[in-house]
Amino acid sequence: MPVQNTSSEALQAYLDTAVALAREVGPAFKDGFWRTGQFASNSDYAAEGKLGNEADCVTAVDRYIEQTIFARLRTIYPKHRFVGEETTAEDGNGYEVTDDPTWIVDPVDGTNNFVHHFPFTGISIGVAINREPVVGVVYLPVLDELYTAARGLGAHLNGKPLPVVRPPALTTPTSLSQCSLVTEHGSDRSAAVIKSRLDSFTRLLLDKEHGGACLQNLRVTGSATSDLTLVAKGVAEMYWECGPHAWDFAAGVVILLEAGGAVFDGAGWWGVDIPECDKSPQPFNLWNRKILAIRHVPDLPGKPGSGRELQRRLAGELLGHVQDIPYSPDGGH
Ligand code: IPD
Repeated sequence: MPVQNTSSEALQAYLDTAVALAREVGPAFKDGFWRTGQFASNSDYAAEGKLGNEADCVTAVDRYIEQTIFARLRTIYPKHRFVGEETTAEDGNGYEVTDDPTWIVDPVDGTNNFVHHFPFTGISIGVAINREPVVGVVYLPVLDELYTAARGLGAHLNGKPLPVVRPPALTTPTSLSQCSLVTEHGSDRSAAVIKSRLDSFTRLLLDKEHGGACLQNLRVTGSATSDLTLVAKGVAEMYWECGPHAWDFAAGVVILLEAGGAVFDGAGWWGVDIPECDKSPQPFNLWNRKILAIRHVPDLPGKPGSGRELQRRLAGELLGHVQDIPYSPDGGH
């Protein structure tokens, strides 16, 4: 479906800009990760707790990359809007969400992984127009994985179409007991939130005789952005989390949707080519701080549309076992 008032050429130009920026800051990212070059000094990378909580950290590299990306973007697109984890989060999320083209950047997603040299960490650059995510670039420099996508232009990993696992190797799961779920424990360590997450994990893992879903695998990578790329790739079936922000998933959502996946934001379904009758009347809400993402599910033989139906059934099964954690939406939206 075309993006209102935005040509494919314009989307391609935004995508090219995002790729060039991700590649430009890639060497600084790797320097920070390995403590070499310009970020060799421990004081440069030392993690600071953002909200008085060491689990929610930021480093000098986060700030350097975000400032570099936004300085370039402000020159190229002076009339666009910019939302970045470090500039915005430190402002108490006090930004306004509008229909204008908005660049949404997480300079280092998975900062805790970054600090601990754990390779699931990367740069996320998304563009939303009319509040809809339409361009996404996720660069995981340590794994040398560059994910790119734009609405109507497909999704790719290092130039190869996603999902990388393709039918017949890409299976058609019919229950959570055949699924891998990636999720996160997040950085909110308040007692009620931790209890809620652990209760959800218990119900997902527990055997069916005791009311659980007997989920086949539960994985935590430490990076919401990486989680979405794993689902887009086809190596995990689902990703679910309450609490991340738009910068954690704006780019990854475009990549997943263009790879045939679907997302649920608490209000309804969204995906490319989902029949209008099944779709949420509103585009996926980037600001709602909740996400359930599911990979492309191939149709059963001779049953067109069954893949989309199974996506909804699996998501429904998941939502029946987990507890929602209410967070105030970002940007007062
Ligand atoms: C965090 C990571 C983490 C997720 C949090 C995010 P950051 O991003 O993606 O996996 O659970 O919700 O805030 O702070 O490392 O950029």
